[in-house]
Amino acid sequence: MARARSGKGRGAGKATRSGTKRPKTAKPAAAKRTPAVLRPAEPAPAVPEPAAVATERTVAITVNGRRHDFLVPRDLAPETTLAYLLRERLGFSGLKVSCDEGACGACTVLLDGKAVLSCMMLAVEAHGHEVTTIEGLPQDDPVIQAFAAQSEPGYGTALQCGYCTPGFVMASVALLRENPRPSLAEVKEALSGNLCRCGCYAGIARAVLHAAEKLAARGGTP
Ligand code: FES
Ligand code: FES
Repeated sequence: MARARSGKGRGAGKATRSGTKRPKTAKPAAAKRTPAVLRPAEPAPAVPEPAAVATERTVAITVNGRRHDFLVPRDLAPETTLAYLLRERLGFSGLKVSCDEGACGACTVLLDGKAVLSCMMLAVEAHGHEVTTIEGLPQDDPVIQAFAAQSEPGYGTALQCGYCTPGFVMASVALLRENPRPSLAEVKEALSGNLCRCGCYAGIARAVLHAAEKLAARGGTP
């Protein structure tokens, strides 16, 4: 109505700063803002869950008599295998990583005196344990001596290329620690997880039996 627009009458709005009058209907009702003091209290913002904190821990592994400390994950990724740690980080390259899936025995080391496949074990699992690689055996170890003595080329040799030898030696040392006088069948059984691509199985078994004889002559265990 012209009356409302002219600013006269009860329907007129408040005066603006310029002196002109703005009709109350100038803004749609929905656009009106409720004074802050009258607004219903807004729910408190949710407290965010604390972010997952990567926990660090020290892993201590004794290798060939020397303790090594690693801060996980800074110094040692949790997924690192014991084989990788020993070979690539600590330089014990005697053990070999051939299949890398627990099928050949080339990576055999001793963990607290027991033969383990280091490619199938995480390095962090060796925390607090003693690891022995072939470098940690004494030069006069009867198994090493027996393999060395049985290395003439030809049938009956215990090694040709030597790639499998550290794994066989460590598995044999573990065997003789448990059973210093094994039978041929027991030797074959104990070494059945180790593969020799040169096919020196007969010579290897013979070397282990010779090592057992040397051991008996010394009256001790390897
Ligand atoms: S490399 Fe570990 S079992 Fe073959
Ligand atoms: S001596 Fe060559 S793989 Fe065993």
